[in-house]
Amino acid sequence: MLEVASEGIHVVDERGVTVVYNKAASELDGLLPEEVLGKHVLDVFPSLTQESSTLLRVLRTGIPEIAKQQTFTNYKGKTITTINSTYPITHGDEIIGACELSTDITRIKEMAERIADLSQELRNKERREHTGTPRTRGKVSRKLFTVDDIVGQSAVMREVRRQVIQVARTQSNVLVWGETGTGKELVVQAIHSASDRADAPFVAQNCAALPEGLLEGLVFGTSKGGFTGAQDRPGLLELASGGTLYLDEIDSMPLGLQAKLLRVIQDRRVRRIGDVNERPVDVRIIASTSIPPRQAVEQGLMRADLYFRLSVVEIGLPPLRKRQEDIPLLCSHFLRKHGKGNISISPEVMSAFLTYDWPGNVRELEHAIEGSLAFLTGNTIELQHIPPTVRGITASATISRGSIRNQLKNHEKAAIEEALKQGGSVSQAARILGIPRQTLQYRMKIHGIRAPRLRTGK
Ligand SMILES: Nc1ncnc2c1ncn2[C@@H]1O[C@H](COP(=O)(O)OP(=O)(O)OP(=O)(O)O)[C@@H](O)[C@H]1O
Ligand SMILES: [Mg+2]
Repeated sequence: MLEVASEGIHVVDERGVTVVYNKAASELDGLLPEEVLGKHVLDVFPSLTQESSTLLRVLRTGIPEIAKQQTFTNYKGKTITTINSTYPITHGDEIIGACELSTDITRIKEMAERIADLSQELRNKERREHTGTPRTRGKVSRKLFTVDDIVGQSAVMREVRRQVIQVARTQSNVLVWGETGTGKELVVQAIHSASDRADAPFVAQNCAALPEGLLEGLVFGTSKGGFTGAQDRPGLLELASGGTLYLDEIDSMPLGLQAKLLRVIQDRRVRRIGDVNERPVDVRIIASTSIPPRQAVEQGLMRADLYFRLSVVEIGLPPLRKRQEDIPLLCSHFLRKHGKGNISISPEVMSAFLTYDWPGNVRELEHAIEGSLAFLTGNTIELQHIPPTVRGITASATISRGSIRNQLKNHEKAAIEEALKQGGSVSQAARILGIPRQTLQYRMKIHGIRAPRLRTGK
């Protein structure tokens, strides 16, 4: 199993002498197993010290070091980036060894950097095309949503449109929150499009999508000499200069980076990783969360100081089930959007739509309509055309459905808590449950479960 594992596995005994060194580890380091096995770590890696070697440090402290990013040049001269987790191996109270797991993310890192390079190229191209021409609204290269795309007649959506128009005239930072599919990105793009930054770039980044080290480089930029193999590269803060940077799921951004972001907002200057100079940045930051931001602060997912800075304007998007009066309007909007303005919706379907609780919110409604169009023969969407989950629920079934939902919810919550207890970390628990880590984090947020505090940060 050790030999076929795709993660590099390196185990030392209590003296720091290697006892396990698998194939993946040997490929990462560019060393043969026989050059490492039976030897002390410092004899094999002379550049390391008692202090800098993670294996020796964990051996001494007994404290696991989880998900640390490292870039190094291996013995074959290749630049490698890995994510390492190092754990003590204990017997009773005694530390009898340490184990390091390394995942090669060189390719992922290269891809992330390539994307950053390409966005910059695009931006330079756009700039060239823009010079000489007067700044006209709506001349953005990608078609972004505008206020007119925000559909809804409920009081709360009318208020949202008013807030969007009002805040677009200012330079304040904005915090948008709402469940999945409630239209957060739609609102953020609408603010950008209605602002005087409309011709400048709109850049969106999901903070939960990347490991800490990559996110930091991507957002703040890197500089030659920052770490081995680093290039001079502007971060998204610079790429979005003059425009808007949308940071989605800001509560998944590690707290250290949140502090760094706060400094950029306050000083309007950014320092690329490893750079000595600071550069001025002019960017409006709009962030979003899927749970109430105050709750994110209480759960330690979001720094209070960053929250106060961003929440000058706070826009909350209620779930669709709390504004059913918007459903008919949204239906005709999506039918028109798909070029089917002539299609109508049967009263039975509309009543099913009004009873269903739409966990996926507006996005789920759009998909339900889009999907039903594929089955359509006549000019009316009937019950048999809409997804069974939406259809199966009639008013009379509401009570038992509610209780089953609750049972499932409680069961899920208990399973997550048990997995976290067993696994000790979110990543481990996700593995136990057989779901992606991001999915687990999202489910934990929904249930208000805190992550075990294992991360040591950077
Ligand atoms: N009020 C609305 N009017 C018209 N379309 C809407 C509205 N709200 C959401 N939509 C549509 O629903 C889809 C999902 O919206 P969006 O991507 O903005 O959601 P989100 O809150 O960012 O979701 P997630 O948290 O999953 O990223 C989009 O296609 C968007 O255009
Ligand atoms: Mg979104």
